[in-house]
Amino acid sequence: MRPPRPTLRRRLGQQLDALGETVEVLTEVKDPRIARSLGPGAIRGLVLHRGKQGVPTRFQARHQAHFDWTYPHDHPEMADLYRRAKAGQWDADALPWHIDVDPVNPEVPLLPVDFVDLNALPARGVHLSEKEWRQFGHSIAAWMLSQFLHGEQGALMAAAQVTEAVQFFDGKLYGATQVMDEARHVEVFLRYLESKMGRVYQVNDNLYTIIDGLMGDSRWDMKFLGMQIMVEGLALGAFGTMYKVTGEPLLRALLSNVIQDEARHVHYGVVALRDHFRLELSPRERQEREDWAFEVALLMRNRFMAYEVYEEWFEGRMSRAQWRSFMQQSPGMEQFRTVMFSRLVPNLRAIGLLSDRVRPRYEAAGLARYFDGAAADVLTGAGMLSELDDERARELL
Ligand SMILES: [Fe+2]
Ligand SMILES: [Fe+2]
Repeated sequence: MRPPRPTLRRRLGQQLDALGETVEVLTEVKDPRIARSLGPGAIRGLVLHRGKQGVPTRFQARHQAHFDWTYPHDHPEMADLYRRAKAGQWDADALPWHIDVDPVNPEVPLLPVDFVDLNALPARGVHLSEKEWRQFGHSIAAWMLSQFLHGEQGALMAAAQVTEAVQFFDGKLYGATQVMDEARHVEVFLRYLESKMGRVYQVNDNLYTIIDGLMGDSRWDMKFLGMQIMVEGLALGAFGTMYKVTGEPLLRALLSNVIQDEARHVHYGVVALRDHFRLELSPRERQEREDWAFEVALLMRNRFMAYEVYEEWFEGRMSRAQWRSFMQQSPGMEQFRTVMFSRLVPNLRAIGLLSDRVRPRYEAAGLARYFDGAAADVLTGAGMLSELDDERARELL
């Protein structure tokens, strides 16, 4: 179904809203240093839509490749992660690709029917038939999986950069396994989208903005913080939510494998940053990272609004502001935020970025309930999966 083409006036209004949101993103960030570090990427992502031009993007890397010709055995915990990563390698071809996936079959839903709230649409002037509703569900699922794919490409490049830059030799060996893991994740999400969903959505501008900022940052620990803690935390939250709610067996099998890899990646991030932040940084440098993590966490929470799906379905039928409130209030997004922060906040605590100075801000954002959760250095992928399985079983009762 094609929505009616919006009038020029309406299109202009929507562009202004998008621009207004960009300005809002940048002014929402209180600290000028952080606004400056996010700013250029935000202009390229949110205003120029660099990720959507259909041409390759080249980022100028500014980090230093760190060599060590003495090959020290310098980090037993990373060496242990390396051993576990080697033992945990899997072949994407071994997944049950023979399973026939029909994205609009209500008997085997990709996402539960109440992932977004159908009843909230008429109040915004939109009525969908049952068939359209199912197709819309297909769009939402394909959009989410497409963002997973783009995030995995970001993770592949970032893991390669981090492997070059990190000063622990055991970390480099471990990092190489993560590069392979991320390549496999790109492989499985792309294969699933192309062969089962029949479509791939373009990269979301906010996701592009975060990746853009990390690729060019010269500070290795900022890359670590951004990728291994924030983006991987976001990914774990998103994968966990989808694993928990989907009824499609191939997708569940795929996500189960990916989650176990990702749990190791976040563990590595916690281990690498914990001592560095405590021992190597000045109080001022630590505060900057604390503020950056808080701002980026809120951006990630507030900004992944699937505008690409909105433009396809509802542009001209409801405003972007109406769409935003619709998405923000959807039960699936609420779950996603819960799982994401239950992973992320304890990890920030574990690396020392949850001091008494910033705790009140997390409290004001309603995130205090996650302060005492388990961090990635004490959680295993298997443990996370069984927790998600328990929650799923409880919710299905
Ligand atoms: Fe990944
Ligand atoms: Fe990862």
